[in-house]
Amino acid sequence: MMKFSIPIIFLLFASSCFSFSYSTEQYTSIFSFGNSLADTGNFLITAAQAFPMVARLPYGITYFKRPTGRFCDGRLVVDFVAEALGLPLLPPYLARASNFQQGANFAVAGATALNPAFFIQRGLGSLLWTNYSLSTQLAWFEELKPSLCHTHQDCSKYFKKSLFLLGEIGGNDYNYLLLLGRVTIQQVYTYVPMVIQEVADAAQRLIEHGAVNLVVPGNLPIGCNPLYLTVLRSPNPADYDAITGCLKPLNQFSMYHNALLITALEKLRLKNPHANIVYADYYNAALQLDLFPFKFGFIHGPLITCCGSGGGPYNVNVSAFCGAPGSRLLGDPSSYLNWDGIHLTEAGYLNIANGLLYGPYADPPIIHYN
Ligand SMILES: *[C@@H]1O[C@H](CO)[C@@H](O)[C@H](O)[C@H]1NC(C)=O
Ligand SMILES: *[C@@H]1O[C@H](CO)[C@@H](O)[C@H](O)[C@H]1NC(C)=O
Repeated sequence: MMKFSIPIIFLLFASSCFSFSYSTEQYTSIFSFGNSLADTGNFLITAAQAFPMVARLPYGITYFKRPTGRFCDGRLVVDFVAEALGLPLLPPYLARASNFQQGANFAVAGATALNPAFFIQRGLGSLLWTNYSLSTQLAWFEELKPSLCHTHQDCSKYFKKSLFLLGEIGGNDYNYLLLLGRVTIQQVYTYVPMVIQEVADAAQRLIEHGAVNLVVPGNLPIGCNPLYLTVLRSPNPADYDAITGCLKPLNQFSMYHNALLITALEKLRLKNPHANIVYADYYNAALQLDLFPFKFGFIHGPLITCCGSGGGPYNVNVSAFCGAPGSRLLGDPSSYLNWDGIHLTEAGYLNIANGLLYGPYADPPIIHYN
């Protein structure tokens, strides 16, 4: 008996190794679109006037040891995805000197899904951090495409091995309206179908260019965001979730956006049966961290911002964000979920990335056994 058990174990082990390496070798490039959740430097290259603090430490303090333009202490979801696929961290598209054969990042902090005209028409144009909305990012992709592949056949072969991360995008459209525009949430609900249409149109445009593998994230639970909790605090205790302390009406709004996105993606799948269109459930991936922070090593309250100036219950002071004079780190960023009141820490993004790479927050997960 003993004589046979060793080779059998060896065979099982060898075959699982084989399928694992096969699945990680399926992508040779990544193209990313979105906002500050995914921006690896574009906003900084455009001078970062709306948020100059991103150009200084403590941004970047954990991993890069210098500010890179990421709105985080370290790496973002897109960085962890690149690492897991054995690809280099994505260069920002506006760093023109880069080689983009293994991918490019078009995401810009502050970017919206809707065109700037939507905000300008409503007198809110001056609020925008950037005019590089989703349609501009797609135009950049189209500008880059001739340098990546030539004939239709060539492009189809190249993009079959590309992963397209489309978002998260749309969250800022609501951030500007709800946090700065003083528009009621009822009114913002009426804009959600327009935002979803922009995302769906972008996905369709990418598919027509040859994209086959798309991951489209939904919105985070914005009611658990320390900036929202600070700016839109409610006098009504019933507005707060008893377990998480998050604002329920805002989380319901995120769920509404996500429900419409899921429906739009289902329509896209019917229209493009050859494409793999995966919804990434950022909402539940993040909410589990708010529900069970200790399980993930977040020993401080998940609604308390690591980097801020000590004001209020969430350590958010809208007059002195992270990096401004008077702000400081409350402790080790790896023990906090939230980094600067708006964005998560590297430790937070790592958990979200793992949920997309290995499941259950992407179905199928990005890395799966073929
Ligand atoms: C966006 O474009 C408008 C109109 O051209 C301009 O006034 C505004 O300064 C631009 N905003 C940014 C952040 O570049
Ligand atoms: C918020 O920051 C401003 C500007 O630095 C400061 O004057 C104010 O005292 C701070 N508020 C709190 C509650 O810490």
